[in-house]
Amino acid sequence: MMRILLAVLLLLPPVPALAWGAQGHEIVTTIAAHQLTVRARAQVARLLGSPAMLIHDSNWADEVRDQRPETGPWHYVDIPLRAPNYVPARHCQTGQCVVSQIIRARQTLADPRQPAARRAEALRFLIHLVADLHQPLHAADNGDRGGNDIRISLDGRRTNLHQLWDTRIVEAMGRNTAKIAVGIAGAVSPQQRKAWQAGAPAVWADESHRIARDRVYRMVQGRRSLRLSSGYLRAEMPTTRQQLAKAGMRLAWLLNTTLR
Ligand code: ADE
Ligand code: ZN
Ligand code: ZN
Repeated sequence: MMRILLAVLLLLPPVPALAWGAQGHEIVTTIAAHQLTVRARAQVARLLGSPAMLIHDSNWADEVRDQRPETGPWHYVDIPLRAPNYVPARHCQTGQCVVSQIIRARQTLADPRQPAARRAEALRFLIHLVADLHQPLHAADNGDRGGNDIRISLDGRRTNLHQLWDTRIVEAMGRNTAKIAVGIAGAVSPQQRKAWQAGAPAVWADESHRIARDRVYRMVQGRRSLRLSSGYLRAEMPTTRQQLAKAGMRLAWLLNTTLR
Protein backbone atom coordinates (compact mmCIF):
# COMPACT_ATOMS: atom_id res chain seq x y z
CA MET A 1 0.00 0.00 0.00
CA MET A 2 2.78 2.45 0.97
CA ARG A 3 4.64 1.55 -2.18
CA ILE A 4 1.60 2.30 -4.33
CA LEU A 5 1.04 5.59 -2.53
CA LEU A 6 4.67 6.56 -3.04
CA ALA A 7 4.50 5.62 -6.72
CA VAL A 8 1.38 7.76 -7.16
CA LEU A 9 2.98 10.72 -5.36
CA LEU A 10 6.05 10.49 -7.57
CA LEU A 11 3.89 10.56 -10.70
CA LEU A 12 1.95 13.69 -9.71
CA PRO A 13 3.09 16.90 -11.36
CA PRO A 14 4.93 19.28 -9.03
CA VAL A 15 2.59 21.61 -7.16
CA PRO A 16 2.89 25.17 -8.48
CA ALA A 17 4.80 27.31 -6.02
CA LEU A 18 3.03 30.38 -4.73
CA ALA A 19 5.75 32.50 -3.21
CA TRP A 20 9.33 33.45 -2.73
CA GLY A 21 10.58 30.48 -0.72
CA ALA A 22 10.82 30.70 3.06
CA GLN A 23 14.31 32.22 2.86
CA GLY A 24 13.26 35.04 0.56
CA HIS A 25 10.49 36.03 2.97
CA GLU A 26 12.81 35.91 5.97
CA ILE A 27 15.32 38.14 4.18
CA VAL A 28 12.67 40.73 3.27
CA THR A 29 11.18 40.92 6.78
CA THR A 30 14.64 41.05 8.35
CA ILE A 31 15.54 44.04 6.16
CA ALA A 32 12.23 45.71 7.08
CA ALA A 33 12.53 44.92 10.81
CA HIS A 34 15.84 46.83 11.01
CA GLN A 35 14.13 49.98 9.74
CA LEU A 36 11.00 50.13 11.87
CA THR A 37 10.25 53.16 13.98
CA VAL A 38 9.87 52.66 17.73
CA ARG A 39 6.10 53.04 17.39
CA ALA A 40 5.76 50.57 14.52
CA ARG A 41 7.99 48.05 16.31
CA ALA A 42 5.88 48.28 19.47
CA GLN A 43 2.64 47.74 17.59
CA VAL A 44 4.06 44.80 15.64
CA ALA A 45 5.14 43.27 18.96
CA ARG A 46 1.69 43.84 20.44
CA LEU A 47 -0.15 42.33 17.46
CA LEU A 48 2.11 39.32 16.86
CA GLY A 49 3.38 38.66 20.40
CA SER A 50 7.01 39.80 20.00
CA PRO A 51 9.10 41.83 17.52
CA ALA A 52 10.83 38.67 16.26
CA MET A 53 7.47 37.23 15.15
CA LEU A 54 7.60 39.55 12.13
CA ILE A 55 10.27 37.30 10.62
CA HIS A 56 8.72 34.09 11.92
CA ASP A 57 5.27 34.96 10.53
CA SER A 58 6.56 36.03 7.11
CA ASN A 59 5.68 32.59 5.70
CA TRP A 60 2.36 32.17 7.49
CA ALA A 61 0.33 33.14 4.38
CA ASP A 62 1.89 30.22 2.49
CA GLU A 63 1.27 27.83 5.36
CA VAL A 64 -2.50 28.52 5.46
CA ARG A 65 -3.13 28.37 1.74
CA ASP A 66 -4.19 24.72 1.86
CA GLN A 67 -6.83 25.42 4.54
CA ARG A 68 -7.86 28.63 2.79
CA PRO A 69 -7.74 27.96 -0.96
CA GLU A 70 -9.50 31.25 -1.73
CA THR A 71 -6.31 33.05 -0.64
CA GLY A 72 -4.16 31.30 -3.28
CA PRO A 73 -4.62 34.01 -5.96
CA TRP A 74 -3.73 36.73 -3.44
CA HIS A 75 -0.03 35.87 -3.87
CA TYR A 76 0.35 37.00 -7.48
CA VAL A 77 -1.16 38.97 -10.35
CA ASP A 78 -1.22 37.54 -13.85
CA ILE A 79 -0.29 40.53 -16.01
CA PRO A 80 0.12 39.14 -19.54
CA LEU A 81 3.66 39.48 -20.80
CA ARG A 82 2.57 41.68 -23.69
CA ALA A 83 0.46 44.08 -21.60
CA PRO A 84 2.22 47.45 -21.28
CA ASN A 85 1.25 47.79 -17.62
CA TYR A 86 -1.07 46.71 -14.80
CA VAL A 87 -4.73 47.67 -15.27
CA PRO A 88 -6.88 46.79 -12.21
CA ALA A 89 -10.12 46.38 -14.19
CA ARG A 90 -8.37 43.96 -16.53
CA HIS A 91 -5.86 42.08 -14.38
CA CYS A 92 -7.52 42.15 -10.96
CA GLN A 93 -11.22 42.32 -11.73
CA THR A 94 -12.49 40.80 -8.49
CA GLY A 95 -9.73 42.12 -6.24
CA GLN A 96 -8.34 38.62 -5.69
CA CYS A 97 -4.76 39.51 -6.63
CA VAL A 98 -1.64 40.56 -4.79
CA VAL A 99 -1.98 44.28 -5.60
CA SER A 100 -5.53 44.59 -4.22
CA GLN A 101 -4.81 42.38 -1.25
CA ILE A 102 -1.81 44.47 -0.17
CA ILE A 103 -4.03 47.55 -0.22
CA ARG A 104 -6.80 45.77 1.66
CA ALA A 105 -4.47 44.31 4.30
CA ARG A 106 -2.96 47.74 4.89
CA GLN A 107 -6.42 49.29 5.36
CA THR A 108 -7.39 46.65 7.90
CA LEU A 109 -4.10 47.06 9.74
CA ALA A 110 -4.59 50.84 9.85
CA ASP A 111 -8.09 50.62 11.35
CA PRO A 112 -8.02 50.67 15.18
CA ARG A 113 -11.72 49.74 15.29
CA GLN A 114 -10.90 46.31 13.86
CA PRO A 115 -10.43 43.48 16.36
CA ALA A 116 -6.75 42.82 17.19
CA ALA A 117 -6.95 39.32 15.71
CA ARG A 118 -8.08 40.69 12.35
CA ARG A 119 -5.37 43.33 12.34
CA ALA A 120 -2.78 40.69 13.24
CA GLU A 121 -3.90 38.56 10.31
CA ALA A 122 -3.78 41.59 7.99
CA LEU A 123 -0.22 42.22 9.18
CA ARG A 124 0.76 38.62 8.44
CA PHE A 125 -0.64 38.91 4.91
CA LEU A 126 0.95 42.32 4.35
CA ILE A 127 4.50 41.24 5.26
CA HIS A 128 4.21 38.21 2.99
CA LEU A 129 2.47 39.75 -0.01
CA VAL A 130 4.73 42.81 -0.34
CA ALA A 131 7.61 40.37 -0.75
CA ASP A 132 5.72 38.17 -3.23
CA LEU A 133 4.91 41.17 -5.43
CA HIS A 134 8.66 41.75 -5.89
CA GLN A 135 9.24 38.26 -7.31
CA PRO A 136 9.12 39.19 -11.03
CA LEU A 137 7.15 36.07 -12.01
CA HIS A 138 4.45 36.93 -9.45
CA ALA A 139 3.46 39.88 -11.64
CA ALA A 140 3.69 38.26 -15.05
CA ASP A 141 2.13 35.45 -17.01
CA ASN A 142 2.61 34.01 -20.47
CA GLY A 143 -0.11 31.35 -20.39
CA ASP A 144 2.25 29.36 -18.16
CA ARG A 145 1.12 30.25 -14.61
CA GLY A 146 3.99 32.66 -14.09
CA GLY A 147 6.59 30.24 -15.43
CA ASN A 148 5.33 27.23 -13.43
CA ASP A 149 4.73 25.40 -16.74
CA ILE A 150 8.19 26.09 -18.18
CA ARG A 151 10.23 23.00 -17.51
CA ILE A 152 13.85 23.52 -16.56
CA SER A 153 16.65 21.06 -16.30
CA LEU A 154 19.13 22.67 -13.89
CA ASP A 155 22.46 20.86 -13.93
CA GLY A 156 20.45 17.78 -14.90
CA ARG A 157 17.77 18.10 -12.18
CA ARG A 158 14.12 18.86 -13.00
CA THR A 159 12.52 22.07 -11.83
CA ASN A 160 10.57 24.93 -13.40
CA LEU A 161 11.21 28.58 -14.15
CA HIS A 162 8.93 29.86 -11.41
CA GLN A 163 10.60 27.67 -8.81
CA LEU A 164 14.03 28.95 -9.84
CA TRP A 165 12.91 32.50 -9.07
CA ASP A 166 10.96 31.63 -5.91
CA THR A 167 13.67 29.64 -4.20
CA ARG A 168 16.71 28.44 -6.12
CA ILE A 169 18.39 31.79 -6.79
CA VAL A 170 17.86 32.88 -3.17
CA GLU A 171 19.09 29.56 -1.78
CA ALA A 172 22.22 29.82 -3.92
CA MET A 173 23.13 32.99 -1.96
CA GLY A 174 23.66 30.88 1.17
CA ARG A 175 21.73 29.66 4.19
CA ASN A 176 22.30 32.42 6.72
CA THR A 177 19.30 34.65 5.98
CA ALA A 178 20.15 37.18 8.73
CA LYS A 179 23.62 37.70 7.27
CA ILE A 180 22.30 37.87 3.70
CA ALA A 181 19.73 40.48 4.76
CA VAL A 182 22.42 42.64 6.38
CA GLY A 183 24.56 42.36 3.25
CA ILE A 184 21.70 43.33 0.95
CA ALA A 185 20.50 46.24 3.11
CA GLY A 186 24.08 47.49 3.63
CA ALA A 187 24.54 47.92 -0.11
CA VAL A 188 21.55 50.28 -0.42
CA SER A 189 22.46 53.98 -0.44
CA PRO A 190 20.23 56.51 1.35
CA GLN A 191 19.33 58.05 -2.04
CA GLN A 192 18.32 54.65 -3.38
CA ARG A 193 16.22 53.93 -0.32
CA LYS A 194 14.43 57.26 -0.70
CA ALA A 195 13.74 56.59 -4.37
CA TRP A 196 12.38 53.12 -3.58
CA GLN A 197 10.18 54.17 -0.67
CA ALA A 198 7.67 55.74 -3.01
CA GLY A 199 4.88 54.75 -5.36
CA ALA A 200 2.20 52.19 -4.67
CA PRO A 201 1.62 48.46 -5.15
CA ALA A 202 0.40 49.01 -8.74
CA VAL A 203 3.69 50.76 -9.59
CA TRP A 204 5.71 47.97 -7.95
CA ALA A 205 3.72 45.43 -9.96
CA ASP A 206 4.72 47.24 -13.16
CA GLU A 207 8.37 47.13 -12.09
CA SER A 208 8.22 43.37 -11.46
CA HIS A 209 6.38 42.83 -14.72
CA ARG A 210 9.02 44.75 -16.65
CA ILE A 211 11.82 42.65 -15.11
CA ALA A 212 9.92 39.47 -15.97
CA ARG A 213 9.47 40.63 -19.57
CA ASP A 214 12.86 42.19 -20.27
CA ARG A 215 15.00 39.73 -18.36
CA VAL A 216 13.38 36.48 -17.24
CA TYR A 217 11.25 35.74 -20.32
CA ARG A 218 13.76 37.26 -22.76
CA MET A 219 16.15 34.47 -21.86
CA VAL A 220 13.39 31.87 -22.35
CA GLN A 221 12.80 32.96 -25.98
CA GLY A 222 9.38 31.33 -26.14
CA ARG A 223 10.60 27.84 -25.23
CA ARG A 224 8.52 25.61 -22.92
CA SER A 225 11.46 23.54 -21.80
CA LEU A 226 15.14 24.42 -21.41
CA ARG A 227 18.42 23.36 -19.87
CA LEU A 228 20.34 25.65 -17.56
CA SER A 229 23.34 25.39 -15.27
CA SER A 230 23.90 26.86 -11.81
CA GLY A 231 25.65 29.73 -13.61
CA TYR A 232 22.15 31.01 -14.31
CA LEU A 233 21.43 31.25 -10.58
CA ARG A 234 24.59 33.28 -10.04
CA ALA A 235 23.87 35.55 -13.00
CA GLU A 236 20.40 36.40 -11.65
CA MET A 237 21.52 37.12 -8.07
CA PRO A 238 22.02 40.90 -8.53
CA THR A 239 18.46 41.32 -9.86
CA THR A 240 17.09 39.13 -7.09
CA ARG A 241 19.04 40.97 -4.40
CA GLN A 242 17.71 44.28 -5.68
CA GLN A 243 14.11 43.02 -5.63
CA LEU A 244 14.56 41.70 -2.08
CA ALA A 245 16.06 45.06 -1.06
CA LYS A 246 13.17 47.02 -2.57
CA ALA A 247 10.63 44.73 -0.92
CA GLY A 248 12.27 45.17 2.50
CA MET A 249 12.52 48.96 2.17
CA ARG A 250 8.94 49.29 0.97
CA LEU A 251 7.57 46.98 3.64
CA ALA A 252 9.26 49.08 6.33
CA TRP A 253 7.86 52.22 4.74
CA LEU A 254 4.30 50.79 4.66
CA LEU A 255 4.51 49.61 8.27
CA ASN A 256 6.03 52.87 9.54
CA THR A 257 3.33 54.96 7.84
CA THR A 258 0.50 52.61 8.90
CA LEU A 259 1.47 51.93 12.53
CA ARG A 260 2.05 55.49 13.75
N1 ADE B 1 -0.46 30.79 -10.63
C1 ADE B 1 -0.92 31.36 -11.75
N2 ADE B 1 -0.17 32.45 -12.09
C2 ADE B 1 0.79 32.54 -11.15
C3 ADE B 1 1.85 33.45 -10.91
N3 ADE B 1 2.07 34.48 -11.74
N4 ADE B 1 2.62 33.23 -9.85
C4 ADE B 1 2.38 32.20 -9.02
N5 ADE B 1 1.43 31.32 -9.18
C5 ADE B 1 0.62 31.47 -10.24
ZN1 ZN C 1 3.22 33.70 -1.27
ZN1 ZN D 1 5.94 31.85 -6.41
